Amino acid sequence: MEWEGKEEAATITEPEGQPSDLASEISLRPASLPDYVGQDRVRENLGIGIRAAIGRGEPLDHVLLIGPPGLGKTSLAHIIAHEMGGRIRQTSGPVIEKAGDLAAILTALERGDVLFIDEIHRLGKSIEEILYPAMEDGRIDLVIGEGPSARSISLELARFTLVGATTRSGLLSAPLRSRFGNTFHLDFYADEELAAIVERSARLLDVCVQPEAARLVATRARGTPRVANRLLRWLRDYAAVKADGEVTSEVALSALDSLGVDEGGFDTMDRRLMLAIIDKFDGGPVGIDTLAAAVGEDAGTLEEVYEPYLIRAGFIQKTPRGRTATTRAYEHFGATGRREQGALFE
Ligand SMILES: Nc1ncnc2c1ncn2[C@@H]1O[C@H](COP(=O)(O)OP(=O)(O)O)[C@@H](O)[C@H]1O
Ligand SMILES: [Mg+2]
Repeated sequence: MEWEGKEEAATITEPEGQPSDLASEISLRPASLPDYVGQDRVRENLGIGIRAAIGRGEPLDHVLLIGPPGLGKTSLAHIIAHEMGGRIRQTSGPVIEKAGDLAAILTALERGDVLFIDEIHRLGKSIEEILYPAMEDGRIDLVIGEGPSARSISLELARFTLVGATTRSGLLSAPLRSRFGNTFHLDFYADEELAAIVERSARLLDVCVQPEAARLVATRARGTPRVANRLLRWLRDYAAVKADGEVTSEVALSALDSLGVDEGGFDTMDRRLMLAIIDKFDGGPVGIDTLAAAVGEDAGTLEEVYEPYLIRAGFIQKTPRGRTATTRAYEHFGATGRREQGALFE
């Protein structure tokens, strides 16, 4: 389910998972907490929680992971299961359609298992309500039969850890959110961290990448490990065909240029957003709803998924009257963006 819902042709810098990522993501996924690069605060606090839970001989309290796509939420869910010595059962919000689907999953869990629900903000209301007693008291209440003979039974569950992941925490209901003992926000990665991820992945893929080249990939990966790994795979192929297999900085530079990956590593929506602010709204300020209508995306997604990176990279400024494009944005998108993506706004 991780790969559904792409409406337009995906570009290599799109942070959301694509089918072609599937195999390599599994092999490149960090298996343990020490393997997980960056997100220091999350790593540290999660590590403490895990050690304490193990010390008490209990499962870890439920964990909510919040952050834009490709930053390592699914990886963390797997790491939690690994560190706790439990199994992981993976599903996602939109997949669970009926109460019975969730009941079947919950009752099959064993003590210490991790139930990972991706896109947990997309769980239906009635399904969500089954989760409340499951998370709180380790039981579910089911109604069996219909009409006058219907009766309600309560089933005891094994003690498990729910790990929920969401890119859209604003859509999460307050009652659900409050039932997580641990909530972690993932942030975009610094260039040095991404370079370390590229070097780690290069070792796993058995490809020789010079440190300079790893840095170059890092600066164009939109702060996102998934994008960094995807760029690396492209570099590996490019180096194999166009050079002797080694990814030097020259090889990396021409490979990235041949793909049209610009210096910020921006994806299609980033460009669309920036060009809308610059061209359609004269640099702003423009309100988020107006902007959303202009680029054909909902305001919440812009705010929680796309805008954070552009703000962090210093391209958008949030003001009381709306979003404005910075000088930096003009320098970057004013010159290169228009040339590359001009077709989007005629
Ligand atoms: N902290 C990290 N250290 C190393 N690799 C990472 C890290 N976070 C993510 N990755 C890489 O990026 C890929 C995508 O991460 P994933 O956990 O699927 O992101 P999300 O679930 O948040 O979309 C993983 O397969 C892994 O290779
Ligand atoms: Mg994921």
